[in-house]
Amino acid sequence: MIKSNSDHWSPAPLASERDLDGAAAAAGVSPAELLVAIRSIQEHPGRPLAKDGQAEQLMRERDRALQWAHELLEELTELRMVVRDIETESAVAPLLARRSVSPKRLMAPGPTLEELDLILQAALRAPDHGNLQPWRVLEFRADQRADLADLFEQEKLRRDPLASKADLERARAHATLAPVLLGFVVSPKARTKVPVREQWLAAGAALCNLLNAAHQLGFGAIMLSGERCFDPVLSDQLGLTPDEFLAGFISLGRIAQEPPKRRHAMPAEVWSCWLPRESRAIRT
Ligand SMILES: Cc1cc2nc3c(=O)[nH]c(=O)nc-3n(C[C@H](O)[C@H](O)[C@H](O)COP(=O)(O)O)c2cc1C
Repeated sequence: MIKSNSDHWSPAPLASERDLDGAAAAAGVSPAELLVAIRSIQEHPGRPLAKDGQAEQLMRERDRALQWAHELLEELTELRMVVRDIETESAVAPLLARRSVSPKRLMAPGPTLEELDLILQAALRAPDHGNLQPWRVLEFRADQRADLADLFEQEKLRRDPLASKADLERARAHATLAPVLLGFVVSPKARTKVPVREQWLAAGAALCNLLNAAHQLGFGAIMLSGERCFDPVLSDQLGLTPDEFLAGFISLGRIAQEPPKRRHAMPAEVWSCWLPRESRAIRT
């Protein structure tokens, strides 16, 4: 192969014999060999500049280089797909990682007022047909918890006049355990074209955004209802109108203890492709 002994190969035309001698010297071949190579190019454009016997080896090297480049390209394509998968997954990773955390696994501090404001902004971004906000939250501040515990205890006694001391303590604990406690109230709006069932769905979507926002801010949270939510006296004591529903209580705080793992359904369990009725008849 013609080699240059300089880093800067000059492709200037070889005008004279002196130039030919210089070029041959630079290439490490004799002037005669260089002439043969030049003629060979002129006669067979595209033929490699090689001494006899070197052409095959060069071709093999070229094939190996091409093969290598091809394999590299395939690997790069695979890598790009892996990176794309990771990017896609990481976008939903916070949603996949959210877990409900029971009040006994929570500890102070709960979200500050600013963080609560942010969490509620996220809840207000949930899809909401007619922009009705058919829900609201009640915050039970620390100095109201003892009063709330009294109401929970009374409700338990209404339901079960023979409730044990331990039962009543448990009912009171639901009012006091969580660092931050919210009541989630569904208030479907009357006199609107939006069906009530869609308003419930909108409220559920808001609840979900609220829980996910809390998770994103590093808090543990859980929505719990229980039979007390169906007690009209308690709902009235909490200031709900007769048209509103006490959907549950949301506990929020830092996670003191990770919740146990739970089985999650696979997408296939909730997924199917619709077929026209005639096709279904053929299949069965
Ligand atoms: C409206 C509503 C009410 C709920 N009430 C209760 C409840 O009273 N008791 C309970 O154990 N879980 C209740 N849950 C379920 C928990 O909040 C939680 O979703 C469940 O334990 C699954 O945990 P995960 O959210 O980590 O998947 C309720 C969920 C919703 C949406």
